[in-house]
Amino acid sequence: MKNGRLRKVVFPVAGLGTRFLPATKVVAKEMLPVLDRPLIQYAVDEAVDAGADTLIFVTNRYKHAIADYFDKAYELESKLAQAGKEELLALVQGTLPRNVRCVFVTQPEALGLGHAVLCAKQVAGDEPFGVILADDLIVNGAPGSGKAGALRQMAEVAAREDAGVLAVEEVPRADTRKYGIVDAESISARSARIRMVVEKPAPEVAPSNLAIVGRYVLPPRIFPLLEQTRPGAGGEIQLTDAIEALLHEMPVLAYCFEGTRFDCGNKLGLVKATLHMALQDPQIGGETAKLVRGQGA
Ligand code: G1P
Repeated sequence: MKNGRLRKVVFPVAGLGTRFLPATKVVAKEMLPVLDRPLIQYAVDEAVDAGADTLIFVTNRYKHAIADYFDKAYELESKLAQAGKEELLALVQGTLPRNVRCVFVTQPEALGLGHAVLCAKQVAGDEPFGVILADDLIVNGAPGSGKAGALRQMAEVAAREDAGVLAVEEVPRADTRKYGIVDAESISARSARIRMVVEKPAPEVAPSNLAIVGRYVLPPRIFPLLEQTRPGAGGEIQLTDAIEALLHEMPVLAYCFEGTRFDCGNKLGLVKATLHMALQDPQIGGETAKLVRGQGA
């Protein structure tokens, strides 16, 4: 990482997406669209905004669609070019900036998020890297507003404080079982130093209601710690457990990002995100607003 620029970002995309069956029988959860762009596109844009030039997708053998999506679509592109459909061609070619490369790593078995991140070890190398869980969609301002995405904000904090950084958000106490939960001591308006972190605690024993959402800036030291991490909550190798070990060695900060998060890992969250984008869309925003007010068909 140089000057707060994160060169490498890991996208664990090997999950089964059971909440969206039957669609996810054939469509990877990360390919579900929010309006006209798949979730993974928002995640990749956020990584590129943070400075990434190497995107590491940790996939399972069923996730060809993600590789195809970021690849060149020769037939489609030549048809659009011949038909003079320049705008559509630009959309198809614009999924990835030219200077950015994709690396696909297979997670042979679904052993947990920690294991998925560990699969990226060889490619991630020896510098701090980002992790984005694409089903946590975070928007900050309208597209093109120039506002920093969550990961860029975190990368800047990580470089300044020489620390690991996790994105956090307050959640209802009843929901602590869905998240990694931190106990942290505030150091500034948006940052707090983490004292402990625990994966999916019951509300009665959760140290707070401050939940990790799907963004991390981590040092390479996390890899040997992941190698030593035994299965934890749900019998899975948890990234949270390796982070708990990490924070005994170096500062790890909880960061309240500027922006709005949509939990697109469930149906209601995906609907909310779609409505948010539709309301901002220059073409359908007005009609969508009428629809939401109950005045549309
Ligand atoms: C994962 C992490 C958890 C984090 C959550 C954010 O859980 O293990 O610590 O709070 O993502 O979305 P999962 O949603 O994969 O169960």
